[in-house]
Amino acid sequence: MIEVSVPGDKSIGHRCLLLAALARGESRLSGLPPSLDVASTISCLRSLGVSLEDEGAGEVKVTGPTAWRTPAEPLDCGNSGTTARLLTGLLAGLGVEAELRGDASLSARPMDRVVYPLQAMGARMAYVEQPDHLPLRIERRASGALRALRYRPRVSSAQVRGALLLAAVSGRTDLVIEDRHRPRDHSERILRYMGAPVLTESVGVGERVSFRSSGWDGALSPLAARVPGDISSAAFLLVASLLRGSSLTVRSVGLNPSRIAFLRVLEGAGARVDVAESGEEAGEPVGDVSVYPPSGLSPFSVEGDTVPGLIDEIPALAVLASRVDGVSHIRGAAELRVKESDRLALIASNLSALDVRCDESDDGLRIEGSTEPIVGSVRTEGDHRIAMAFAALGAAPGCSIVVDDPDCVDVSFPGFWETLGRVTSGGVER
Ligand code: S3P
Repeated sequence: MIEVSVPGDKSIGHRCLLLAALARGESRLSGLPPSLDVASTISCLRSLGVSLEDEGAGEVKVTGPTAWRTPAEPLDCGNSGTTARLLTGLLAGLGVEAELRGDASLSARPMDRVVYPLQAMGARMAYVEQPDHLPLRIERRASGALRALRYRPRVSSAQVRGALLLAAVSGRTDLVIEDRHRPRDHSERILRYMGAPVLTESVGVGERVSFRSSGWDGALSPLAARVPGDISSAAFLLVASLLRGSSLTVRSVGLNPSRIAFLRVLEGAGARVDVAESGEEAGEPVGDVSVYPPSGLSPFSVEGDTVPGLIDEIPALAVLASRVDGVSHIRGAAELRVKESDRLALIASNLSALDVRCDESDDGLRIEGSTEPIVGSVRTEGDHRIAMAFAALGAAPGCSIVVDDPDCVDVSFPGFWETLGRVTSGGVER
């Protein structure tokens, strides 16, 4: 059995850093991923006056409370949607003036989903160039506190939830969010762990999250946490291993139930999946995941309520589908069109260029897989998950894939190519 580990979870890392800056006292975080996205959050926080010492090897000391200041230059969120959206919420709650910018990919992604509800809470912000897109200027509030909000988002998104919770907690304002589906719940877990009164209730297949400021003294306890390995990064290695027909264990990854829905899909395709939980970090379950390949993989369907729980794993599942004899479907995943690239279009065009039959619809893909060798090159448009998904496909026997921008994996998984090399030998060129 091959055993590997992966860098720390990006979603948890961003939130630990942002929330540690709000805590009173010294937080110690370890296991932060050396990824470009988390580096964007760190550099934005420093520009805002956060006392953050990098102690090396993924360890950071954050000392709060922060004396927030307006940065001299626009804050650069790089490629990171989580940095841009969560910081928008935090700055809106604090009433700190700042301009947020991003790279070309991030500047093409929608911001209204956080801007509208934050404006409804009384925050003041304006787009600098074009509606719905970065750059965005967050303005000082003329007077008064934020208003309470009860909100039913059009899209169930953890970034929207995280942004609104950060605004409500830092602005000491009541908030109720009613989501139709359940996005990842890291913000809620970490806030509760730090002592904030955040309540989560199931409502059918959806969820209601509430924060009530009255009766709370506003103190968030400092964090001492080791960020678990990123299960979304592990997904590419688990799929690569199944495609090769070999077993793999990924050690010490986050096992938050809102992140592991793709493991059920792997089981549906015939794989054996073992999950061994070993503990908790900052309210997040952690443990090892092992996969064992079946003698033949079966086609599968991904749709509806399960999509928010595996949204980042769809590129990996799509390449798995391309090697399964039969037709697999992905539906209800229109959100993939506004990720780091239009992932539905890019997966479809790359699979088609590799002679895999793939039909794209508004919100999904129909993939007709086979076990014929797949050889060729793919376009990533700088999207880390597209690069890693097709690299995993290149690991299948008889397949060889050239990825046009191998370095883009650094957004979430520096060291990916070396780790993939340990999971497989050959078949992948960079
Ligand atoms: C993230 C939430 C998801 C996910 C993204 C990270 C987060 O986006 O796709 O990679 O850390 O909150 P949405 O909230 O837009 O679904």
